[in-house]
Amino acid sequence: MSMKISFTTSPQKAADTAVILVYSGNALGSRAASLDKQTDGFISHALKMRSKFKAKTGETLTLSLPPKAPYVQAVLVGMGDSAKLDALKAEEAGGKLCLALKAAGAENAALLADGHAKLKGLSEAALAAHLTNGLRLRSYSFDRYKSKEKDNKDGLKLVQIVTAQQAKAADAFERLDCVTEGVFWARNLVNEPPNELFPVSFAKQIVDELEPLGVEIDILDEKEMKKRGMGALLAVAMGSEQKPRMVILRWQGGKGKKSSKSAPIAFVGKGVTFDTGGISLKPGAGMEEMKMDMGGAAAVVGLMKTLALRKSKANVVGVVGLVENMPSGHAYRPADIVTSLSGKTIEVLNTDAEGRLVLADCLTHVQRTYKPGVIIDLATLTGAILVALGHEYCGTFANDDKLWHQMEKASAATGEKLWRMPLDPAWKRDMESPMADLQNISKSGRNAGSCTAAGFLEHFIEGKTLWAHLDIAGTAWHKADKPTVPKFGTGFGVRVLDRLVADYYEKA
Ligand code: BES
Ligand code: MN
Ligand code: ZN
Repeated sequence: MSMKISFTTSPQKAADTAVILVYSGNALGSRAASLDKQTDGFISHALKMRSKFKAKTGETLTLSLPPKAPYVQAVLVGMGDSAKLDALKAEEAGGKLCLALKAAGAENAALLADGHAKLKGLSEAALAAHLTNGLRLRSYSFDRYKSKEKDNKDGLKLVQIVTAQQAKAADAFERLDCVTEGVFWARNLVNEPPNELFPVSFAKQIVDELEPLGVEIDILDEKEMKKRGMGALLAVAMGSEQKPRMVILRWQGGKGKKSSKSAPIAFVGKGVTFDTGGISLKPGAGMEEMKMDMGGAAAVVGLMKTLALRKSKANVVGVVGLVENMPSGHAYRPADIVTSLSGKTIEVLNTDAEGRLVLADCLTHVQRTYKPGVIIDLATLTGAILVALGHEYCGTFANDDKLWHQMEKASAATGEKLWRMPLDPAWKRDMESPMADLQNISKSGRNAGSCTAAGFLEHFIEGKTLWAHLDIAGTAWHKADKPTVPKFGTGFGVRVLDRLVADYYEKA
């Protein structure tokens, strides 16, 4: 990932590829128009001949330019109707542009983003920033473990964004890039193999990344968790040689007199660094995918990184429960009854329903220690959410309409799709056990598996705390095209929650 991005009023270094934005009706910006003139109308002629290209958002067309042009080739990217262009569409176009530039073998591209007089919804600076953000998000690759062939070795090295609003565009991009940094880190964490990323090494990475940025960090080890009575999380950890950790992160951005006292917003993440299922062992096929079972924790720490990088004016607490779920002679078993930090006892009927046990103690700890007004947890909690919503939507359970509406707006603004799922007293009751206070799987079998899981978590929400639970089992990763690479982390959650914090939880 060696791609550099610069904003400039005119290209500083000779570029091999021009990027030309084309709006519906084949309208070109001023700099593209002058390139067209310079090449005796080559580009407008090509647009006429290649009538399949309709300049729809994200549609691309690569042209080799004649010798007198200052570039070897041009990548045309459709921007759709200029009156309907918004930030999300610009990012979508930027993503497609990244793929087209790589396919065209571009090394140094000049993106001509200037002089589009007819823009309505976006300033030229915002257009340039969002387009570039989409491009950067798509440029991600994970090649740490390739000893020879690095993905971007001979690829795109420099993208120069050419715009008259250079300073404004660079500023806007910088803000967006703080989010992308959080997203990339979250993706990396999910993509790390479980022999490298386990609770102790995960906790160390969190300290190494976030402490220099001014995030306050506390780490609870096994002894400390035992002392406090976190019996649910510890039960899950018992089968593994890898010791568990709970990491608590604090960002105190609301510095004003009033705001430093106001209740923080809390984010809680499931960090099962590998989920074999434990004694209720998962089938072998596809088990490697369970390295992504820490996607919730990755999103929480990625979000904290973003908030710190952009010096958010919010008071935020993050808690991640880090454990490995393994079968062994020390492992917890079906029929065990454990006592959670809340005092509620839980009958374990399936050791593969471990995420809710980890979350239970994290939720209790964050409420009792920091008294947050709002808690949002993220967890790769159930396979059932994949059955319901696939990789497209994140199942979102909220106990408050206003909180849900805020999340819905943040979702629409960032394109990270949330779908509201129901909480119901019937599912909460369904998780009560005849033997103990609760049981960790539903009494009614597999039906509504994501809802009963949420019903279990609801038992750990105290008083009037506003709470949302994001089941990211589908959205935290996606299958790559190559069958040899089963999945890649998406960093889902960082963008939408950054937006939620920015729009509703920052103090002036
Ligand atoms: N980590 C899994 C959920 C999961 C499944 C995440 C597929 C990503 C993809 C979770 O710990 C789990 O095993 N859940 C069980 C719960 C069941 C035993 C009640 C499930 O979904 O089958
Ligand atoms: Mn499991
Ligand atoms: Zn799990």
